[in-house]
Amino acid sequence: MANLFSEIRIKNIDLKNRILMPPLAVRNPEKSGFVNDIVIDYYSKMSGLGMGLVITENVFVSPESKVMPNQLLLSDDKFVEGHKKLVDAVHKNGARVAVEINHAGANLFDIPELKTMLANKEEGDFVVDDEGDVREPLNSIKEKDLSKRDIIGIVESFGKAAKRAIDAGYDMVEIHAAHGFLINQFLSPFINKRSDEYGGSLANRMRILIEIIEDVRHKIGETPIIVRFPVSDNPPQFTFYPDGLKPEDGLKVAREISVKGVDMIDISGGYSGSRPKELKEIEGYYVPYSSALKEVINVPVNVTGGIRTPEFANYVIKSGKADTVGIGRALLADKEWIAGAEKILT
Ligand SMILES: Cc1cc2nc3c(=O)[nH]c(=O)nc-3n(C[C@H](O)[C@H](O)[C@H](O)COP(=O)(O)O)c2cc1C
Repeated sequence: MANLFSEIRIKNIDLKNRILMPPLAVRNPEKSGFVNDIVIDYYSKMSGLGMGLVITENVFVSPESKVMPNQLLLSDDKFVEGHKKLVDAVHKNGARVAVEINHAGANLFDIPELKTMLANKEEGDFVVDDEGDVREPLNSIKEKDLSKRDIIGIVESFGKAAKRAIDAGYDMVEIHAAHGFLINQFLSPFINKRSDEYGGSLANRMRILIEIIEDVRHKIGETPIIVRFPVSDNPPQFTFYPDGLKPEDGLKVAREISVKGVDMIDISGGYSGSRPKELKEIEGYYVPYSSALKEVINVPVNVTGGIRTPEFANYVIKSGKADTVGIGRALLADKEWIAGAEKILT
C-alpha cells in the first residue's frame, strides 16, 4: 500500500515521494516578468526541503493577462533563459518541477467590479499573497468582453507559453483552471453569460479548457499536463455561490479532460479560492472532492488545502483519497516539515 514516501509515476515522470509544493508566489519587486535572483534563490531553497514535485507560482501567458505587475511571464522567448535557471536550481536538489501557466481573465475586459477591486489595493498588498482567498465575483463575461478571435488568441498563448516552458526544461506543465481566473470564469454558470458556443451548456462552458489542453498538448508532445481544477465554486458542505459550478458538473468536466490527455488533476477551489477563511479549522478541506474524483477517473489526483500534519497527509494517501498531497503554508511555516514527516512515517 502506498504511503506519503512512496514513489509515483506521473505519465513518464517519476517522483521520489507523494509530497508536492503547490504554487506559492514569492515576494518579488521585479516588474518586467523576468525570473531574477530572488526567484531562483527561493525555488532553490524550497526545493531542497525534500518534496517530489515543485509547482511554480502562476506564470502568465501574456503581459495583459497578469493581475499584478510583479508576476512572472512566459509570453516571449526572452523569458526562457531565466526559467532555465529556475529549473536547474530545482533539479539540482533532486526534485521535479512543473510550471503553472495562467491567464487572469475577465479583469482585462473592462469589467468595472474588478477594476475597482484592483484600484482599491495598494500594490504592496499584492506582493506576497498574490492569490487572495476569494476572487470577488464579477457580474459576467459576455461575447462583448471577449470575441471568438480573442479566445483563439488566448488559447494559442497558453500553447506557446507551454512550449517555452519545455524549452526551459520544465518536467510538466500545469494549466490553472481554478481560483476564479479565466478558465474558471468560463466554467462558472454565474459568471459565464455567453450565448455562443463558449457559454450555456456544460459542454460549452468547458470548451475553452478543452481547446487549451489540445493546443498545449500539440505544442509539448509527451510532457505531462496537470490541470489545477475546481470541482466546484463552493467548498464541500458550504454554499457561498448558489449559482456557481456544481460538484456534479465539476466531476463531469474532470472526467472529460482526463480522457482528453490530461495526466494529473490538481484539486483546489473555484471562486471560493484556495484558502476559504470559513474552513480554516478543517484539515484537508478539499479532500472530499479529491476522494469523489478518485472514484470516477483513472489519472492521478493531487489535493491541496489546509493539510497541516504528516499523519493526515499520510492518511490521505494510504486511504486512496488522493495520490499526492500539496503542502503549502505548513511548509512555509516549518522548513523541517518533510524531514520530520520522514522520521515519523518511515
Ligand atoms: C503566499 C501564497 C501564494 C500563492 N500563490 C499561488 C499561485 O501563484 N498560484 C496558485 O494556484 N495558488 C497559489 N496559492 C495557493 C496555494 O497553492 C495553496 O492552494 C493554498 O495555500 C492552500 O494550501 P495550504 O493550506 O497547504 O497552504 C498561494 C498561496 C499562498 C499562501
